[in-house]
Amino acid sequence: MCGIIGYTGSGTGDVLDVLMTGLSGLEYRGYDSAGVAVANSSLEVYKREGEVSALENAVPDSDLDGLAGIGHTRWSTHGPPTDANAHPHTDDDGRVAVVHNGIIENYQALRRELEADGYTFTSDTDTEVVPHLIRSALDSGADRETAFRQAVQRLEGSYAVATVFNGSETVYAARNESPLVLGIGEDGHYLASDVPAFIEFTDRVVYLEDGQFARVNPSGIVVTDDQGAIVETAVETVDWDPEDAGKSGYDHYMLKEIHEQPTAIRKCLRERVTELEGSIDVAELADLEVEGPVQFVACGTSYHAALYGARLLRERGVPAQSFLASEYDVDAVPLPEGSLVVGVTQSGETADTMSALRAANRAGATTLALTNVVGSSAARECDHVMYIRAGPEIGVAATKTFVSQQVALAMLSSVVSGRGSQEFAQQLRALPDQIQQVLDESTAREVAAAYEDADAYFFIGRGYNAPVALEGALKMKEITYNHAEGFAAGELKHGPLALVTDSTPVFALVTEGDDVSKTLGNVKEVEARDAPIVAVTDIPDQVSAYADHVLEVPSSGPRFTPILANIQLQLVAYWIANRLDRSIDKPRNLAKSVTVK
Ligand code: G6P
Repeated sequence: MCGIIGYTGSGTGDVLDVLMTGLSGLEYRGYDSAGVAVANSSLEVYKREGEVSALENAVPDSDLDGLAGIGHTRWSTHGPPTDANAHPHTDDDGRVAVVHNGIIENYQALRRELEADGYTFTSDTDTEVVPHLIRSALDSGADRETAFRQAVQRLEGSYAVATVFNGSETVYAARNESPLVLGIGEDGHYLASDVPAFIEFTDRVVYLEDGQFARVNPSGIVVTDDQGAIVETAVETVDWDPEDAGKSGYDHYMLKEIHEQPTAIRKCLRERVTELEGSIDVAELADLEVEGPVQFVACGTSYHAALYGARLLRERGVPAQSFLASEYDVDAVPLPEGSLVVGVTQSGETADTMSALRAANRAGATTLALTNVVGSSAARECDHVMYIRAGPEIGVAATKTFVSQQVALAMLSSVVSGRGSQEFAQQLRALPDQIQQVLDESTAREVAAAYEDADAYFFIGRGYNAPVALEGALKMKEITYNHAEGFAAGELKHGPLALVTDSTPVFALVTEGDDVSKTLGNVKEVEARDAPIVAVTDIPDQVSAYADHVLEVPSSGPRFTPILANIQLQLVAYWIANRLDRSIDKPRNLAKSVTVK
């Protein structure tokens, strides 16, 4: 994680503005500290612990115009979030400044070597070896570009790295296993971890590949291989509307994104589902051939979507399993000929998921990326890609991307199994309006008021509701910082019931078609221990008698009603976090795109 931005422009006076705008668009990647370096005849470096707003207060009002600049927003890995550990890092004389995203695995050996040579370290970070390595190469007579390349060639691990020098309008950059995209603007050129950092200025981009280097200055972008030979690159146009990245009057991105779910689903379904014929046709998957079982690899919220997707496939006769990407062991799980391994990842950059996909690829499986980010590492490295089309999601806690993943997985299950039906297509097409109905009529805010002081929150559901229960608990943990756990409803009695008291509200997902009587049995078990029950249901007539509160959703059959139930759980978590005045869009210790293992 961490976000990096670089800019070199022909217009004067705008370097710092561009960097600050870019950092604000990258804060979802980390917000432990932020910093910038602006190159003039000298380098001006400002960095502060905390969010970009803290950095803004730290930068003097004086004119900080420059030739070029780099910036960084940090999610701490090596060393606590302090001013000293904030990027950019510099060499001893402040003539080279570096920002980095990733982990340099051999930094301790490099640091020992550099310290022995007399270079002084002032931070705990792995990154700080880079400016000293560059300086060491400069001291040996290398020119700037060569010094940068030689330094990067000494690094082992993952990195997207960018460097500026005093008195130079060039930004040098390189990547290995961490994302880096270049932007081609009218008045300048950009580089960043992700497109939202500069989408306000340009939508024309070049994705850097692993092992490539870039030299970026006002007159152009030159991409080379690790020997310095020029590489031809394709310029692509991204179709994100910068307006989508604003809050549009909502207090938080998360609430805005919850309300964008009907639109996100419509976009996800567009030109893929024909209701009349009941056909589902995903153009990107026209060449996909699956003969063996399907394995999903994913992390966090995406793993919950993967659990949901695997169940859909199994129900349609296709063997399917979900794995936490960090636990995926390709040697331990048979991958018969014709297997498909699907990476479910909204960012397309999660290190654990990428690592699992690469292992599956090496083992000969066909790979598919199910992602939101065009041009992401997963999209580029997998054999196939299906986009979920949710649009930019800025809130760290995933909401609209989760629902879009569920819908995309439903379509995938139909494509892979070859089993579609008019009812299935109609139910998918009805979802946007039904989600809107939930958003319009939800009483989640009242439920939040009733239970904001609970000791812990439990979530239970069976079948398609089981992954939704896990996701409901994850949302609650992420943004309220309160203890929450999700369970398959049948598991409650095998241990967690010991924790149930009158201060542990239990959110029970009870929807038609998921063995209602059994889940109601589980509800009675907790009721008998005096726990308050909040039922999320499309069958209030059958359920209300057992519940203290009912959050009602429309019926959409056993597979899709859980998608609607999830919306209610998102809203409850949001409103509790809001009442507790939590940092909803940027929860403590978390980041949206986790590019470390
Ligand atoms: C981080 C985010 C989660 C996300 C997970 C997987 O932990 O905070 O919200 O679910 O990464 O991310 P991905 O981009 O692979 O879906």
